[in-house]
Amino acid sequence: MTQQEIRMKAEGYSLFYGDFKALNDISLDIPVNRITAFIGPSGCGKSTFLRSFNRMNDLIPGVTTEGKVYLDGKDISGEDVVDLRRKVGMVFQRPNPFPKSIFDNVAYGPRLHGMKNRSELAVTVEKSLRKAALWDEVKDDLHKSGMSISGGQQQRLCIARAIAVEPEVILMDEPASALDPVATLKIEELMNDLKKNYTIAIVTHNMQQAARVSDYTAFLLTDENRAGNLIEFGPTRQISPLPRTAGPRITSAEDSADREDAMTRENFDRELEELKQKLFQVTERVRKNLAASIKYLDERDMKGAGMIIEADEIVNLKCLEIEEQCLNIIATQQPVATDLRLLFSILQISTEIERIGTTPRE
Ligand SMILES: Nc1ncnc2c1ncn2[C@@H]1O[C@H](COP(=O)(O)OP(=O)(O)OP(=O)(O)O)[C@@H](O)[C@H]1O
Ligand SMILES: [Mg+2]
Repeated sequence: MTQQEIRMKAEGYSLFYGDFKALNDISLDIPVNRITAFIGPSGCGKSTFLRSFNRMNDLIPGVTTEGKVYLDGKDISGEDVVDLRRKVGMVFQRPNPFPKSIFDNVAYGPRLHGMKNRSELAVTVEKSLRKAALWDEVKDDLHKSGMSISGGQQQRLCIARAIAVEPEVILMDEPASALDPVATLKIEELMNDLKKNYTIAIVTHNMQQAARVSDYTAFLLTDENRAGNLIEFGPTRQISPLPRTAGPRITSAEDSADREDAMTRENFDRELEELKQKLFQVTERVRKNLAASIKYLDERDMKGAGMIIEADEIVNLKCLEIEEQCLNIIATQQPVATDLRLLFSILQISTEIERIGTTPRE
């Protein structure tokens, strides 16, 4: 990437919450007018890293950092923070419109930055709502509360609010995870439109979403000290194999007649099969623990309950292991990894059921 193609840059960036190192020595470039996705398992530091780009972490007591983050080649630590956040806007996981009218939600930022003229504001509001693909749905209800529209509309309203101050970069932390599939698709389409004019960095849990929307993908994982490290970064379609995963990556379905790719498919099938077996074992364990915990609860057996709590830790570890293995396979075998969606869903359901087993602890 040449200098002009980079909008933001992290260089040797580490972040500490008190004594705890949450991000370890991350260097990465965010290219102009592209969508860069941050992916990785829960707790690996995706949100923390995203917040580093507009210094939102400054608001958390005890946070210290090492290394630098640049916007257009300028170190952001020296920038006025209000000005920085105008240039680097943010959209959160849960839509958070202000308890104001739709109009005032969008006009909020421009007003803050000194725009007073009502007709000028009206032009900005309309332009922003159009860009956020919401205008047609709300143009007759601009006076209505921003909190009275649907979740998907609220999220687009928040995007309109972010756009209204003409930022250069929009940071999005799992912007669709609280939305239904149709609203999610709308947000994804919108992102694709927006990248013509803006640079976008998005955190997502969802691999399919990363594959669908992003041009570049950064893959984070925690090390043995639970610090988030950047493991992979590159064009989404070409993320190279992770060092720890065996076998070459499958690059395209058309080549599958080819012998080498057939072998790769075999590798993938084998990895998937191993993963399935592990999943069945965990599911079985959860089922047994759940049955036992109901029995112990019924009999008010404290010792038994203690055993279940211990067994629960093992289940947690196994689930994490499976989740991490899924992520590794997805990162290395993207094009054929759709089979993993089902596996992931089962794991999710299993984890939720397992939580019921955790209740006796309380
Ligand atoms: N305000 C905070 N104070 C202390 N530790 C924090 C704080 N916020 C996050 N952490 C810790 O920093 C690490 C990274 O958290 P972060 O929320 O960035 O992860 P994430 O990848 O976004 O996870 P998720 O996918 O669950 O949203 C975790 O170990 C978390 O517990
Ligand atoms: Mg997060």
